[in-house]
Amino acid sequence: MTNSPGAAATVAPRSDKVSLEARRRRTFAVISHPDAGKSTLTEALVLHAKAITEAGAVHGKGNRRATVSDWMEMEKARGISITSTALQFPYTTGSGDTCIINLLDTPGHADFSEDTYRVLTAVDCAVMLIDAAKGLEPQTLKLFQVCRHRGIPIITVVNKWDRPGRYALELMDEIHERIQLQTTPLTWPVGIAGDFKGVLDRRTGKYIKYTRTAGGATAAPEEHIEASRAHEIAGDDWDTAVEESELLSADGADFDRESFLRCTSTPVLFTSAILNFGVNQLLDVLTQLAPSPNGAIDVDGNRREADSPFSAFVFKVQAGMDSAHRDRIAYARVCSGTFERGDVLTHATTGKPFVTKYAQSVFGQQRSTLDTAWPGDVIGLANAAALRPGDTLYSDVAVQYPPIPSFSPEHFSVARGSDPSKHKQFRKGIEQLDQEGVVQVLRSDLRGDQAPVLAAVGPMQFEVASHRMAAEFSAPITLEPLPYTVARLCEPEDVKLLARLPSVEVFTRTDGVLLAVFATKWRLETVQRENPEITLRGLVAADQ
Ligand code: G4P
Repeated sequence: MTNSPGAAATVAPRSDKVSLEARRRRTFAVISHPDAGKSTLTEALVLHAKAITEAGAVHGKGNRRATVSDWMEMEKARGISITSTALQFPYTTGSGDTCIINLLDTPGHADFSEDTYRVLTAVDCAVMLIDAAKGLEPQTLKLFQVCRHRGIPIITVVNKWDRPGRYALELMDEIHERIQLQTTPLTWPVGIAGDFKGVLDRRTGKYIKYTRTAGGATAAPEEHIEASRAHEIAGDDWDTAVEESELLSADGADFDRESFLRCTSTPVLFTSAILNFGVNQLLDVLTQLAPSPNGAIDVDGNRREADSPFSAFVFKVQAGMDSAHRDRIAYARVCSGTFERGDVLTHATTGKPFVTKYAQSVFGQQRSTLDTAWPGDVIGLANAAALRPGDTLYSDVAVQYPPIPSFSPEHFSVARGSDPSKHKQFRKGIEQLDQEGVVQVLRSDLRGDQAPVLAAVGPMQFEVASHRMAAEFSAPITLEPLPYTVARLCEPEDVKLLARLPSVEVFTRTDGVLLAVFATKWRLETVQRENPEITLRGLVAADQ
């Protein structure tokens, strides 16, 4: 680049370019109860954005699973998705602007909710996917609480409208009553669940008519019809949709951006992910209404603006994603500035330089080298042995982002190496699983270092730990369950008293946190009642 005045006039200053790139990015995750259609919707979104030409190339179940990660046989055997991936694809809106969508995948199974929680620290918005026949389910509720606690705006998608289900108004009431979220539908179904003809677009008043395609494998054609002609085409179903929409408006259920961003109202859309109905509208809503990356708040409560020098935080570390590359990838979300592969960053925890030669983007099972990234993007850093979830990376101006809190574990097991000659491998494996956050590792003087206690939110985390100890570290383990179900943070001065109580034990977690564990929540309540001087705190708000 030259310094001539002409060149200066045509090249945008760096921070302008960063702001521009940040503004056109949307980084979000889909939260749902298993089976609500998350994988199907993910495929449909990518399909609509024309990043792939045939549904099924990203991930899926059953026969669609041919292209899926083979990193863990357990994943296949159970037919669930444990691996989280970050998909990036461009989407051109009707007005011709191109947005970059970052869709962060979350594991569907409740046992991996801690992983999901970590992913949610890296998004600017969440899509809450609900099965039209089932409404709010336990996992949706739990994840919703996490979003509310973190102030993540939510777009609600009522899926499977092609199948018989509940009444739309009834579903809106359920959301309002059970989670105190004002619903502001942007579209309203024309035809009841099981008879999906199209939707009333409440912002334009038009009828969007959907047409089925064979197998739903390509983007479903849609027609936008003026309200004056809609009755002719959709008959009484149109009139009902109009009446119900007017009822909603009278009830204050019209979109309000401020309350959406505050997480007190949620725009709602109706879809059939399998038929690709309504998926277009979701992409439009994401690009038009979802917030773009806006820097991040550091550990001192100050905002680092998106156009500041580069910074990112690691939200996930994952090893052994496929048998061909038994390596370790740290996923970092860019908060500010530009990333260029090869940049030498600073690792805030150690103050040491971190070279980013092996940056990758991960798209489904494919990995490709990533050269540049902007705020909102996810960088996969391979061979990043030093990085842990919650770590900050920066360049030029130092910054430290807050650590990612852990969930309260609810399952505890003593881990013992089955083969005493593999002691070294045992230690290394446990340390690695701990660093990745696969399980939490607890120790106490009472139990000694040979038999650490593994703690998990869901028992399937133990299966992953066992499997990996044997397969990756050649150190098979046995697990002896302990009779505890609740954990609370405690203070050093209370340890002695707590340790003397029956059905209570105190451990030190690897990060130095003291955890008191209790057999049941009633036992916890009794201890609190009988010892009011003891301070016990939940690990995250969702646990309280
Ligand atoms: P998940 O990731 O949230 O667990 O759900 P997934 O997409 O795997 O969908 C769960 C089941 O629901 C799948 O059926 C899928 O085909 C179906 N499904 C998803 N979206 C829709 C929809 O809009 N309408 C209808 N009718 N069904 C939908 P499956 O029988 O378990 O698997 P498959 O054999 O169809 O792949």
